[in-house]
Amino acid sequence: MLEHIPVLLNESKEFICSDLLEGTIVDCTCGAGGHSKAFLENSNDNVNVICIDRDRDAIEIAKKNLSEYIGRIEFMNTRFSEIEKLFDEKSVKRVFYDLGISTMQIDLFEKGFTYKREQNLDMRMGESDITAYKIVNEYPLDELVKIFRVYGQERFSKRIAENIVNERGIKPIETTTELALIVRKSVPRSMELKSLSRIFQAIRIVVNDELTELENSLRISLDRLPAGGRIAVITYHSLERNIVRGLTMTMGNVKVRKKNPSRDEIKNNRRARSAKLYKIEVL
Ligand SMILES: C[S@@+](CC[C@H](N)C(=O)[O-])C[C@H]1O[C@@H](n2cnc3c(N)ncnc32)[C@H](O)[C@@H]1O
Repeated sequence: MLEHIPVLLNESKEFICSDLLEGTIVDCTCGAGGHSKAFLENSNDNVNVICIDRDRDAIEIAKKNLSEYIGRIEFMNTRFSEIEKLFDEKSVKRVFYDLGISTMQIDLFEKGFTYKREQNLDMRMGESDITAYKIVNEYPLDELVKIFRVYGQERFSKRIAENIVNERGIKPIETTTELALIVRKSVPRSMELKSLSRIFQAIRIVVNDELTELENSLRISLDRLPAGGRIAVITYHSLERNIVRGLTMTMGNVKVRKKNPSRDEIKNNRRARSAKLYKIEVL
């Protein structure tokens, strides 16, 4: 069975659930519901959880996985930048983010997130006006170079972008495999896998406007949580970390601690390799 193994589960659960007697936990990135389940199991009946995910398929899976807690949860198929109204309506005490995409989205939903499988170039987690196909086939050369440099931090951005523009002049680039082949041809062999990850990540970030989403949502959570409130953010790359650090550094009333996964967790779950948990307390 295909499974998404939640990352930094114990650390997240402990931070989110301790000292919480009543109120609302908002899980901004519900996915299959792994973290939400732990929050529900480790809090009492006066605590409820709002599960947000922009991906409708993920919400459907989470509904099944969390069915035994139905009286204590609410599902919202929306982007987490829409979190503000929850602070008006509920007594929100905790906010949780486990950023990026899930194993299900990579392996099950066939949205073209990985170069490892042949799929159409889509990469939308939910509704979005842009697709990976549009970026790869329609964006001008200088825009592609910028995307690969800024969001992929890729050394060979120019060469990769030039080769994409040349190839799409012959025929449209339709699939992940076609894109991967162009990337492979553009970089030294020893760099292929790193460059592939970076280019796919860069396109995904732009398709889903991921960094703006994080910045807007986290700013609202930091502004609106009462004293004693807590935010946990699991990040997977430096661009996400820069946003968390940048926003929290300018605030006098927060305490921030960082936690890495243990060696054992990294050994058992490859997704944990790049994960870092930021524990933010509002003072
Ligand atoms: C890493 S997975 C979460 C996995 C989850 N913690 C679990 O244990 O099953 C991230 C999820 O967040 C969702 N997501 C990412 N960005 C989002 C956003 N801006 N708004 C709402 N959901 C988002 C993705 O669709 C994905 O399902």
